[in-house]
Amino acid sequence: MNLVPAGIAGFGSCLPERRLTNFDLEKIVDTTDEWIQQRTGIRERRIAADGEFSSDLATRAARMALEDAGVAPDEIDLVVLATATPDQQFPATAVQVIESLGCTRAGGWDLSAACSGFVFGVQAGAQYVRAGTARAVLVIGVETLSRIMDYTDRTTCILFGDGAGAVVLTPHERSGGFEYLDGFLGSAPDHDAIIRPGGGSRKPASHATVDNGDHFLKMDGRRTFKFAVRTFADLVERSVAEHGGFDQLGVVVPHQMNQRIIEAAAERLGLPIERFFSNVHKYGNTSAASIPIAMREMREDGLFTPLAGKLACMVAFGSGLSFGYFLVRV
Ligand SMILES: CC(C)(COP(=O)(O)OP(=O)(O)OC[C@H]1O[C@@H](n2cnc3c(N)ncnc32)[C@H](O)[C@@H]1OP(=O)(O)O)[C@@H](O)C(=O)NCCC(=O)NCCS
Repeated sequence: MNLVPAGIAGFGSCLPERRLTNFDLEKIVDTTDEWIQQRTGIRERRIAADGEFSSDLATRAARMALEDAGVAPDEIDLVVLATATPDQQFPATAVQVIESLGCTRAGGWDLSAACSGFVFGVQAGAQYVRAGTARAVLVIGVETLSRIMDYTDRTTCILFGDGAGAVVLTPHERSGGFEYLDGFLGSAPDHDAIIRPGGGSRKPASHATVDNGDHFLKMDGRRTFKFAVRTFADLVERSVAEHGGFDQLGVVVPHQMNQRIIEAAAERLGLPIERFFSNVHKYGNTSAASIPIAMREMREDGLFTPLAGKLACMVAFGSGLSFGYFLVRV
């Protein structure tokens, strides 16, 4: 089968206006700006307004990506929406976005892989384009994590924020850059390292699950930290191995979870920190949304321009535990 080379034709993002700073959090839980900055690098995060849902943020990010790509909504064949915080269990939030955008020819689904969701979604979308089954695919990462945050738990509520990012995938000859080269996905089962236990078939919603806080995100921070550092470095190394190695690597755009994790991975890889994009200080961990938000910011600030012809590695890890990357040539 002849595969059609795929590429990224446009980038979009949407960040809610409301800022929740470390100083705001000092008033809510027993923490300090200094502790949060030292352990995570985070200064503030964005929080969706009352009445603002994942589908709203996703729609705005997707609209921006379509404009950037010069692709009309009715040219989209498929919408893949990665999220751990959909509007509801079903129908899929992707279908709401399809309606809001007017993607009259598209079908779509939600993808559940937590922080790895966007990276998995791009791989899925790229296969449709490569196979010639779709001419244009929207891949969205969106979260309203504030809705499942326990604001009495200082070990989690300081980390996470809300936001959305999106890309449009097309055949490479139309995208004009950002050729999709490769992808990888994996899992290292460790179910309760990061989990929202309530509301599924294992623990259906009940008074008891609500009283127990089972509908909030729960996490073992240290376990996740160690996993992330180890996996991050391995994935970056693996991603470039067959594409010219580290010499060809222009930038790593990692899932934004913690500045210390990014620095530890850079050190492990022996690469300068300048080769790793980070905006975690502004938005915290926005799970599936963090990489497309970062890519849009890089695009807007012209940071990809000097990297033309080089590799960009987008690498993620999260609940599951799950991990993966996708690689493009800028
Ligand atoms: C959560 C995280 C920042 C905690 O940092 P850490 O250096 O591992 O801190 P520890 O969990 O060892 O806790 C150290 C101490 O700080 C305390 N502490 C925890 N959160 C705190 C907070 N917000 N403010 C002040 N103190 C806090 C702990 O209670 C502990 O106190 P103790 O020593 O008296 O028991 C870090 O583990 C992390 O970032 N992990 C990865 C999490 C992540 O990104 N998950 C998402 C995956 S996609």
